[in-house]
Amino acid sequence: MTAKNILLIQGHPDGSVIHLGHHLEEAYAQGAQSAGHAVRRLAVAQLDFPLLRSQNDWQNGALPQGLVQAQKDIAWAEHIVFFFPLWLGDMPALLKAFLEQVARPDFAFKRDGKDLFQHKALTGKSARVVVTMGMPALLYRWYFRAHSVKSLERNILGFVGISPVHKTLIGLVDALGEAGVQKWQVHLTRLGAQAS
Ligand SMILES: Cc1cc2nc3c(=O)[nH]c(=O)nc-3n(C[C@H](O)[C@H](O)[C@H](O)COP(=O)(O)O)c2cc1C
Repeated sequence: MTAKNILLIQGHPDGSVIHLGHHLEEAYAQGAQSAGHAVRRLAVAQLDFPLLRSQNDWQNGALPQGLVQAQKDIAWAEHIVFFFPLWLGDMPALLKAFLEQVARPDFAFKRDGKDLFQHKALTGKSARVVVTMGMPALLYRWYFRAHSVKSLERNILGFVGISPVHKTLIGLVDALGEAGVQKWQVHLTRLGAQAS
């Protein structure tokens, strides 16, 4: 297998303690690195950036300094893995705020004349989203129709050309126990080795 450039985006808003998502990210990184893939990591909780507040700012304003390296990392990556806990049925607001800021015209889209969205500028990259949640993953998938993950796949990642998007949905996190966490770590290490 050819070595890939993999970017891990840790979307947990709390960087002050180690959460399940951090363990999963670490497991993925170890698998990827030991298989020879190049890994970069960014933690949204550690970045300094304001909320985006207007279309004018999005189109014409400067990217916040704290996100310059993040855009470079995204441009570098061939495969991007997002880790986040499900909060109120969706990704945490901080991760959404990060995506609104970085997915700007002339980076995530290339304009053609007046059409801002003519070209999906991140085409050719693939992704995986690793989501942890309190409810059973099957409930989220079948009853809630995995709506927020589908929205991320279609309306954000797909919109800028990132495809395919693989999913790892981990439910009942409070009942996982040590053995359950270890099982998922092994799984994530394997995915990392496969750059999947
Ligand atoms: C503000 C907040 C909202 C949450 N909303 C949901 C939810 O809508 N559905 C769900 O299954 N779990 C929900 N949870 C549980 C988290 O998804 C779960 O605790 C997380 O995946 C485990 O990560 P952590 O404990 O390491 O933060 C919520 C937790 C918090 C703090």
